[in-house]
Amino acid sequence: MARINPSILSADFVNMQADLDRIASADFVHVDVMDNHFVPNLTFGPQMVERIQATSPVPLDVHLMITDPDRWAPGYAEIGAASVTFHLEAAADPVTLARRLRDIGARAGVAVKPATPVEGLYEVLDEFDQILVMTVEPGFGGQSFMADQMPKLARLRDEARRRGSEVWLQVDGGISESTIAQAAEAGADTFVAGSAVFGAADPAAAIAALRAQASAHRH
Ligand code: DX5
Ligand code: ZN
Repeated sequence: MARINPSILSADFVNMQADLDRIASADFVHVDVMDNHFVPNLTFGPQMVERIQATSPVPLDVHLMITDPDRWAPGYAEIGAASVTFHLEAAADPVTLARRLRDIGARAGVAVKPATPVEGLYEVLDEFDQILVMTVEPGFGGQSFMADQMPKLARLRDEARRRGSEVWLQVDGGISESTIAQAAEAGADTFVAGSAVFGAADPAAAIAALRAQASAHRH
């Protein structure tokens, strides 16, 4: 199954309700929380995410690009987000944090920046529901897809299969109708797309087209 998670980083921040309604056919809404420390950009925090949670027709996939997720991530699970992903580079104790997120009732995700290796996650794959392989440097929408991340993704997919893991493999950054096939072939099953969805005249049609491409190229 190919999941399409539009990123509201490319939505209209003062017409969020309308933009959430335009992506009602999505699997999750991808919510990028940036703190201007872990990444050089700033979006919003728990108060805004709580409002999005209260009004979104689809469940939330929160992507925390923040320092000290050990302290802040559980709050997003408590708000009711279906999935909370923190960065491996920022977490002091990723396994303990993932267990806490699951205890609260969220799916636990861990994200890696392009330069971060994933081998250290192999032994603890069962602790996570989702691994996010960034296909751009985190911080901004509209950047170019990094195809050089595909071998890392393929190794993760092989390792997950070998271990019988059910973990979802997510890609985020530069996903469009012209790049999603590569990511699907490398083993991704969950696709974040910001500009490709909200930059389209018809976001629902863009979601359907991305889903069809990803399903056709599913590894
Ligand atoms: C980037 C964010 C992405 C971003 C993707 O740091 O994590 O979710 O919104 O935007 P596009 O799809 O435009 O590359
Ligand atoms: Zn993101």
